[in-house]
Amino acid sequence: MKRLYQLSATLLFLFSCLACEEDDKMDMDKVVVPNGYALSAGTSTIFLNSSVAYDTEADWVSGTNASRFNNGDGLYDDVRTSGNEEGGGLGPVYAGYSCGSCHRNAGRTKPTLWENGGSGNYGFSSMLVYITRRNGAFFRDYGRVLHDQAIYGVEAEGKLSVKYEYETFSFPDGEMYELCKPTYSIREWYKDSIAPEDLFCTVRIPLRHVGMGQMMAIDRNEIIALAAKSNYPEYGISGRVNYITEKGVTGVGLSGNKAQHLDLTVELGFSSDMGVTNSRYPEEICEGQIQINQGSMMGLSYDQLDISTEDMEDVDLYMQSLGVPARRNVDDPQVILGEQKFYEAKCHLCHVPTLHTRPEGSVLLNGTRLSWLGGQTIHPYSDYLLHDMGSEIMGVGLNDNYTSGMAQGNEWRTTPLWGIGLQEKVNGHTYFLHDGRARNLIEAIMWHGGEGEASKNLFKRMTKEERDAVIAFLNSL
Ligand code: HEC
Ligand code: HEC
Repeated sequence: MKRLYQLSATLLFLFSCLACEEDDKMDMDKVVVPNGYALSAGTSTIFLNSSVAYDTEADWVSGTNASRFNNGDGLYDDVRTSGNEEGGGLGPVYAGYSCGSCHRNAGRTKPTLWENGGSGNYGFSSMLVYITRRNGAFFRDYGRVLHDQAIYGVEAEGKLSVKYEYETFSFPDGEMYELCKPTYSIREWYKDSIAPEDLFCTVRIPLRHVGMGQMMAIDRNEIIALAAKSNYPEYGISGRVNYITEKGVTGVGLSGNKAQHLDLTVELGFSSDMGVTNSRYPEEICEGQIQINQGSMMGLSYDQLDISTEDMEDVDLYMQSLGVPARRNVDDPQVILGEQKFYEAKCHLCHVPTLHTRPEGSVLLNGTRLSWLGGQTIHPYSDYLLHDMGSEIMGVGLNDNYTSGMAQGNEWRTTPLWGIGLQEKVNGHTYFLHDGRARNLIEAIMWHGGEGEASKNLFKRMTKEERDAVIAFLNSL
């Protein structure tokens, strides 16, 4: 299926080459842009407008990279089993049964928050639930992530419940909108119940995998420079870098909703989200749990590592080799108006439209270099910096009281907006923000507080026609 779309994209590419009498061989310096589209990531841009738009390789993937890409794709998507054979190692407790279970089509699997009120009784949820004590300490028996799924014969650590409080607001022109404030709690703890007053709990829905290679190849100095200069006192905006130390290296945190990781978290994803042990995390995630010792008695071996470093690098290569969907409908007058209004509302001071990748490109887990990701002009619509997003809207704002590296509870990484307009097509829903509390783009914007307050108010004061145009622009990304 994926191949078919890829083929039609290539045909489209060749056709436009012929149409403009260009040389019809793939010249990676000259990407021909079909009418109505705009480049988003240089030579990694793909011209697709379909449900596989996030999950299709860039045109430069060929030869050894193509077979490694396919291996990584399989390891990413294939349902893990609980046995000891290849492709096994799931659990004993887990949050997802493959990367792709949460990042369906390399996107954002629809969370069960709204329809099932949390984890759901049986259904798989696709979210990550982080838990700590109020004083910031971890729970010894549970760890950092609440694993709401378990293999046969083992109990899940607990289930998430959510309740929403609804409040209606209006734009100055009278149009109404509604915001929903979530309150989370945990039920069915497998062991000791934790008193709600001793618990902080924060929820994340998965992030889209648009532009993972570009994010890893980004020129860190450009990000640092943005932090140094992105002081716009008139709008109250000043981003900061989340400096992170991982594997003994300190660097600019880029991935995750709080920019709390340096890399694409392949080892952590296998270990913490799925219970798949590896060289970086050789221990089962729930080592201390009594029920796990019983698990060993059931004949399951927890001694061997469940995935090799070579395979994990292929997963890294797969994510970094995905094409970035081009912008669409760029000639539509409504989209053009919306783009202008996006700038007028100062959205671009955080959702920075243009950045660059460093000359050397990116480096994968085991040191393989993807040099062709280097020296590119990219349009992620993010500064990858932390911003205070406020605590005041409905009494909480976006503050989750959860610290990650230098990021405080109220601080979040500007979410890259490239590909956002395709989320509905790729994943069948329009839930946005770190925990999916926004049911559409309007709600996502109206939750902006703190450093985003002034910008949000500029949007709020627009006419209905202008607000609609901003949404049309977002949908063209
Ligand atoms: C249980 C669901 C789940 C599973 C399974 C899962 N993820 Fe994720 N992933 C998430 C969530 C939720 C986030 C956001 C986390 C945060 O911000 O704290 C995320 C974030 C990421 C990011 C950061 C993206 C960005 O834009 O910064 C990457 C990369 C990633 N996951 C890769 C993987 C890989 C690789 C695997 C498999 C090894 C995997 N994930 C398995 C839910 C999941
Ligand atoms: C002060 C920096 C800042 C400004 C200004 C800003 N944003 Fe954001 N934006 C963020 C951050 C940080 C997030 C992530 C918040 C979260 O997930 O809780 C975000 C999230 C979003 C999302 C949701 C993305 C997703 O996939 O979940 C949309 C849509 C968005 N912003 C649009 C806008 C628009 C439109 C404007 C201008 C009216 C704007 N933003 C202004 C920082 C900013």
